[in-house]
Amino acid sequence: MTETLAQPVGEEKPGLELIKNRIQRILESLPPSHEPSTPPQGEAEQALRQMLREKGIYPVHLGARLSDFFNPPEKPPVFICGPAGTGKTHLAVAYLVREIQIWGGNSRIFIRSVDLFNKLRDSFRSSSGTPATEIIGNYSRYRFLIVDDLGTERDTPLVQEALYSIIDYRAGHRLPTIITSNFTLDRVGGHYGDFGERLASRISGMGEGLTLDGKDRRWQK
Ligand SMILES: Nc1ncnc2c1ncn2[C@@H]1O[C@H](COP(=O)(O)OP(=O)(O)O)[C@@H](O)[C@H]1O
Ligand SMILES: [Mg+2]
Repeated sequence: MTETLAQPVGEEKPGLELIKNRIQRILESLPPSHEPSTPPQGEAEQALRQMLREKGIYPVHLGARLSDFFNPPEKPPVFICGPAGTGKTHLAVAYLVREIQIWGGNSRIFIRSVDLFNKLRDSFRSSSGTPATEIIGNYSRYRFLIVDDLGTERDTPLVQEALYSIIDYRAGHRLPTIITSNFTLDRVGGHYGDFGERLASRISGMGEGLTLDGKDRRWQK
């Protein structure tokens, strides 16, 4: 008589598959032994967008990339002008994104011209808050600076001089700078009183200008 081990009624002998499944479940419940060395693309993109938001970039420009443009100049143009809606801010942000992807976001700044003027004006007016010298020093030295939409504010000679000294320092130290404007450089020059002409001359000496013309869309795909 062969003896077989009694099996409890209703319970199957655990098969190989069942054991494998249990081991799999245990393994899955354990914490991963290491984090992936590069985060998935989605996370990198999200981190980049968050950084751009923190730099004050509007949502419509968060996705701006140089690949959105046809054959953009390798070196960022110093002065991008053209009518509203032609993609000046989009292009400037696309260069900023390339900078961030190569160097990280530190000391790479985007500011609307109106906000820079307000900052400077406030600093001259009040003794509390950040002193003008510090603001001028910072904006002079940032590794990469975009001043978006220059040319609408006129402001006091003191503020105009502060702007001039920022641009003059950056030109003298070859610090990459992009200025966008709805106006031509000549018009910007005529707009800033005693400092206008010198400002325009510094800007033109810093590098190439680029006109975005909505009609021929040369730089846009
Ligand atoms: N090359 C491009 N590819 C995709 N979208 C673009 C491109 N250029 C501009 N845009 C979009 O068109 C709109 C106007 O561009 P914007 O850069 O704000 O113009 P500007 O600064 O000249 O007024 C924005 O929503 C921007 O995101
Ligand atoms: Mg713009």
